[in-house]
Amino acid sequence: MSEQRRLIIRGGRRIEGEIAVQGAKNSALPLLAAAVLCRGETELYNCPKLSDCDAACRILSALGCSCKREGSVVCIDASALRTSEISEKLMREMRSSIIFMGALLGRAGQCRLSFPGGCEIGSRPIDFHLDAFRKMGAKIREEHGYIVCTAQKLKGAKISFPVPSVGATENVMLAAVLAEGTTEIHNAAREPEICDLAEYLTRCGAKIKGAGTGTIHIEGVKRLSGCRYTVMPDRIAAATYLCCGAITRGEILLTQADLPSLGLVVPVLEQIGCSIYGFGNGSVYLNARKTLKAPSQIRTAPYPGFPTDAQPPMMALCATLPGTTMFAETVFENRYRHVSELTRLGAKIKVEGRVAVVEGVNRLSGAELEAGDLRGGAAMVTAALFAEGTTGIGHICYINRGYENIEGCLRSVGADIRTV
Ligand code: UD1
Repeated sequence: MSEQRRLIIRGGRRIEGEIAVQGAKNSALPLLAAAVLCRGETELYNCPKLSDCDAACRILSALGCSCKREGSVVCIDASALRTSEISEKLMREMRSSIIFMGALLGRAGQCRLSFPGGCEIGSRPIDFHLDAFRKMGAKIREEHGYIVCTAQKLKGAKISFPVPSVGATENVMLAAVLAEGTTEIHNAAREPEICDLAEYLTRCGAKIKGAGTGTIHIEGVKRLSGCRYTVMPDRIAAATYLCCGAITRGEILLTQADLPSLGLVVPVLEQIGCSIYGFGNGSVYLNARKTLKAPSQIRTAPYPGFPTDAQPPMMALCATLPGTTMFAETVFENRYRHVSELTRLGAKIKVEGRVAVVEGVNRLSGAELEAGDLRGGAAMVTAALFAEGTTGIGHICYINRGYENIEGCLRSVGADIRTV
């Protein structure tokens, strides 16, 4: 059982070497759902081997699609879609399963699924998704813990989100590509994963303009074919490994990475004192063999702001730098669950509401920790690489949701890490 396995890390080793960055989880999941819209085969390359992707594949199979994985390639054929219902058990496996709602509405004009599960990093409501589908003509009701959506014919609509939501933007895109007429999404999320989804759908025949900006226009088409598509590199896994390199004052080369999508993570690492260079071949080099200092503040925000998903590993790094950093978490209200665990290692962090004040210390010492969510777990791994002695991390199933073979990747660059 993954619940009983623990990561054991002996800290204090400098990280030096090369890590090939996995495909992006947050891109692969909507792409797997998008394949439902296509009457033809999709070959998805660079699809990370993660429990969340496995969960998405199980949903595809349960819907009647053929879904096969060979290595990092997943082939999906949704021609024989059998049902538009997803069981509670499958929905509970991950929050992103809500993304199947837009895809099923678009393809079948109906869906029945339960409220999703996922990491508990905040209330994570789905009201933006449901309001948008209603605007597009869907009738939505709740029965016995299930959401039932029906639409005779989805119609394009003007949708404006109160705040940019990645999942809601993706869901509306999925519903809109086969809808009648034009959909405009205002205050759309601008994350690179939105562009990846738009690119895939466009290659399948969709008409989408403005992905990556605050306004997206989608003109419905009659039919989508499948295509061959390569999932973009995972910018959060990349950010995490850069933080791991920096916390050990090491040197790391990420291959199969995408520097521009790292956004504000790069200037923050530079401000800390690391050197970072990007190469045209998709490599990113970080050198932290220098005197580092804490950045004064980090405020998470929707892209192009500092990614909330990179906040926990960055906090672990800042906890070991001379100086004080003030973190402001503006995206999710409950994203400091790692703090109590980091303090067990000796970190000095005080949280008040959405603000965390981190006072850097020059020593952490190993302890027994429990991961409570995916990125919080990554923060614990990052901190453990610096901590003297041995750190054990439990509930690693959270970490495996988003990091493909984190143990092997870090061991290959010199970390003393193993699973027991
Ligand atoms: C996605 C990412 C997640 C990342 C997050 C923010 C995936 C699979 N997950 O999550 O890793 O941390 O973006 O970058 O891509 N909100 C509402 N109502 C809604 C929807 C969202 O109030 O119906 C709020 C949320 O509570 C949150 C904010 O909007 O405060 C942004 O959330 P959102 O962008 O939707 O996050 P996810 O798509 O769930």
